[in-house]
Amino acid sequence: MNLMVVDDRKINLSYVDRILKNAFPDLAIYLHEEPGQALKHLRKEPIDVLLLDIMMPDISGIDVLTYVRSHHEWDKMQVIMITAVNDDETFKECFELGANDYIKKPVTQVELVARVKNAMKIVDSQRKLTSLLEGIKDHNKELRQMYQQLQVAHKQLIQSEKLAAIGQLAAGVAHEINNPIGYVSSNLETLTNYVNKIQRFMTVCQSQIGSKDTESLERVFQEEKMAFVLEDLEELVSETREGISRVAEIVSTLRNFAHGSEDGEKSWVSMNDVVKQTMMMLQNEAKYVANVTFDETEEVEALCHKGQMNQVVMNVLYNAIQAVTPQSETKRGEIQIQLRKNNNQVHLTIEDNGPGIDPRHRDRLFDPFFTTKEVGKGTGLGLSISYDIIVNKHRGTLSVENLPEGGARFLVTIPTALNMTEPGLERGGTE
Ligand SMILES: Nc1ncnc2c1ncn2[C@@H]1O[C@H](COP(=O)(O)OP(=O)(O)OP(=O)(O)O)[C@@H](O)[C@H]1O
Ligand SMILES: [Mg+2]
Repeated sequence: MNLMVVDDRKINLSYVDRILKNAFPDLAIYLHEEPGQALKHLRKEPIDVLLLDIMMPDISGIDVLTYVRSHHEWDKMQVIMITAVNDDETFKECFELGANDYIKKPVTQVELVARVKNAMKIVDSQRKLTSLLEGIKDHNKELRQMYQQLQVAHKQLIQSEKLAAIGQLAAGVAHEINNPIGYVSSNLETLTNYVNKIQRFMTVCQSQIGSKDTESLERVFQEEKMAFVLEDLEELVSETREGISRVAEIVSTLRNFAHGSEDGEKSWVSMNDVVKQTMMMLQNEAKYVANVTFDETEEVEALCHKGQMNQVVMNVLYNAIQAVTPQSETKRGEIQIQLRKNNNQVHLTIEDNGPGIDPRHRDRLFDPFFTTKEVGKGTGLGLSISYDIIVNKHRGTLSVENLPEGGARFLVTIPTALNMTEPGLERGGTE
């Protein structure tokens, strides 16, 4: 630590010097008779404690004090005034000008050592505080960086959850399409067979034109079971048509689903369609384990992100299907979806007759990564993402309760229109 003493009398300087050297052998002490020299020195070297005599010719201690306190670089320097004057006004002035302490003349050893020690302690504490602050700043910077990394990771996770959902959907859709395609192609085989039969019959017909002999005609008619072929033909064609239109329907739902998943502007969306399309996407997952019913009384529209709504209904409905699956061999799952509109709020409930929510898990249900499913089966992100979509992005609510008769009920509410000030979004304005 560095200390400077400014006093116009040499004898005072050496007196103070002796005492301080004795008391603080490690302290670097600089002595100045001339305040002007002292100021020059101050500009060159950082000084921690400055002892200033008040009464000096030309430049007084108060002048020096005024000067150093008007420059921020010396803000942390401790200034102790030494004075022979014993009047309160001078002390007051010194403190107002920014002095930290004072020593009265004649200076005693005890007082000088005590005051300087105090000043050094303050300087030391200030240094510690500064380095602590620096540490906190660094820490804060690190935290901010970590937060940014977390946000990126969060985005990536949401993306991978979406991808997982798409993979799962793709499997379901492939299965759904496979079924009608299966019977369409088997029908085609039968049709080919029938066409061969008809061709053979027609060939005989042609050769018999003009002849009165119908015997061979009748024989082929019997052999080729033409009566049955003609009867079955109609059914075969209508079944095939049905299969093809089912595939077309699945493809169009898929296209609709994919179309709505972009995070663009909110638009007026039919919540009835959101539910129906999601039900269809999950039909394959549900059909062996549960009956899924949809209770809708009216068309309910909301200003929202369709893709995000699809994702929420998908997550909650899929959870319900997963909840009823383990018990489905003894008790068929019942999943009821209800959609209502009330006071400009959309109310969507999805309830199941599964085991319900374990009370120990309730508080953590919407936390990211909370899952009770086996490793690889659930990421534990479905509900946390849904919560984010409903609560943060649509200012709605997402809650859950257990039903008295067993099972869980999830309730989603969102305002039908959140931000009517967005241009072009008057009801029916964009769709
Ligand atoms: N309908 C329900 N009945 C019983 N428990 C449920 C139901 N829905 C959710 N849960 C519980 O909440 C947990 C968290 O659900 P969430 O959808 O967030 O994750 P997950 O289904 O485990 O995994 P992910 O959805 O990411 O595949 C589930 O593991 C399950 O324990
Ligand atoms: Mg889930």
